[in-house]
Amino acid sequence: MPTALVTGATQGLGRALAEALAVRGWDLVVTARDADRLAQTVSALRDHGHDVVGVAGDVSDAVHRDAVAGVVTGPTGPTGPAGADGPDGPDGLDLLVHNASTLGPLPLRPLGDLSTDDLAAVLAVNVVAPHALTCSLLPSLEAVGGTVVAISSDAGVEHYESWGAYGASKAALDHLTLTLGAEVPSIRAYALDPGDMRTALHQAAFPGEDIGDRPLPEEVAVPGILALLASRPANGRYRAADLLATTSEVAS
Ligand SMILES: NC(=O)c1ccc[n+]([C@@H]2O[C@H](COP(=O)([O-])OP(=O)(O)OC[C@H]3O[C@@H](n4cnc5c(N)ncnc54)[C@H](OP(=O)(O)O)[C@@H]3O)[C@@H](O)[C@H]2O)c1
Repeated sequence: MPTALVTGATQGLGRALAEALAVRGWDLVVTARDADRLAQTVSALRDHGHDVVGVAGDVSDAVHRDAVAGVVTGPTGPTGPAGADGPDGPDGLDLLVHNASTLGPLPLRPLGDLSTDDLAAVLAVNVVAPHALTCSLLPSLEAVGGTVVAISSDAGVEHYESWGAYGASKAALDHLTLTLGAEVPSIRAYALDPGDMRTALHQAAFPGEDIGDRPLPEEVAVPGILALLASRPANGRYRAADLLATTSEVAS
């Protein structure tokens, strides 16, 4: 079975993507900070009959990242020799999805009102953590010609007032991911803009607003990512809505 690591997989896009992968037979390692919600998620994902391991923690914590890497590559992890696939199980990581993310301090604020510590905290979660995790897992990705998907945002290319820290972090994440793709030809590397989604993160950015017109993650973003994984185009930055439109055109 192919194996994926999805960070921030207990709600929103990460949860919906993990569900879609589990349904399609993937073994999973999933993470999030809230251990109880993670345990519930792991239990639900296991109902699909495949190996699912949860590792609770904050991606910005180096000790947590080491634990995640240990589960993915270690003897008891799904890609290790004693994993659920047995001694001849997969010897690498097929998919790494950097999904866990922070908006930074709320309400969102102009850069002039953002402290240096706040900016550093956003970069720690959205940029430094994915880079560090990718580096730890690069041998496992290279072993199977795996794929890195960094969940980006239109805020990484547009310049929305009060979105500066988050937007800069997504621009940096895109850049690191696509540079990695240029440096490591044996893997695929994508920055994926999921589009607006009806999630807790989006509601937090728009407090008190009715966000009911935004699609759920499973409506556009997840099908877009599945289309990306199925077609494995050249490394680059893609929008889920575009990938979905292309898939629909090919199918019709
Ligand atoms: N929603 C949108 O409209 C939108 C638009 C463009 C891009 N995006 C991007 O899409 C991705 C998913 O967003 P979402 O809207 O699905 O978010 P969400 O509903 O808030 O879910 C975030 C998930 O990540 C986990 N998480 C958050 N911070 C974490 C941390 N520091 N370490 C580990 N796990 C963490 C959360 O669980 P815990 O709280 O338990 O840790 C949760 O499982 C993000 O990268 C976001 O930037 C979202």
